[in-house]
Amino acid sequence: MKLFIDDANIEAIKRLTDVYPIDGVTTNPSILAKAKRDPRETLKEIREIIGEEAIIFAQAVDLSYEGMINDAHMIVDLLGKNTVVKLPSVPTGFKAMKALKKEGIPTCGTVVYTPMQAYLAAKAGASYVAPYVNRIDNMGYDGVKVVKEIQDILDTHNMDCEVLAASFKNSQQVLELCEYGIANATCAPDVIDGFVRNMAIDGAIQDFVNDFKKLTGKTSMSELA
Ligand code: E4P
Repeated sequence: MKLFIDDANIEAIKRLTDVYPIDGVTTNPSILAKAKRDPRETLKEIREIIGEEAIIFAQAVDLSYEGMINDAHMIVDLLGKNTVVKLPSVPTGFKAMKALKKEGIPTCGTVVYTPMQAYLAAKAGASYVAPYVNRIDNMGYDGVKVVKEIQDILDTHNMDCEVLAASFKNSQQVLELCEYGIANATCAPDVIDGFVRNMAIDGAIQDFVNDFKKLTGKTSMSELA
């Protein structure tokens, strides 16, 4: 499963990409708004941090077909290769996905709450579909189950489209989809930080250091030399 950071906070992206095996960054207009500066500057700085081989997702904001196409061109011009344009999975978005597919610009059908939206986005040529796990949970449905249903549809119809599961609130949601073979997950920094936040793990590691110190008076192997 590829792991993406769903955030535009520069310090968080630097910190997380330094230690975790991160495959890229996903953004949306609300995430960019939190950075409180020109979104072009934010996106370009993210691209510099993650490098040109990592994938960056940026969303078209205009809701008209022509506007989506213009936004897509602007985003790709700004961020270069390995850029995916997110488009809402609604009729105008499907039209834009079809056109951008012909141009060779990869798209992600986003704002996915139902399997039918994902199916239509995939059929329209989206390379990714992004179901919102936790938001679906909050509506009284089972977000993880919906993602699995979407994956089953893509598999059944042999569609050239990957799931980018999004809107997570905890590790268990991510792990369950990892076990199911979902290709991509994008998580906010606090969710990623929660993956290995566990007092049992921290305690076991500290015990090793303490026992070694009792034996040698040192806290590292290299100090023995
Ligand atoms: C991804 O495409 C979405 O923009 C994002 O994951 C939504 O997450 P949220 O429900 O935490 O806002």
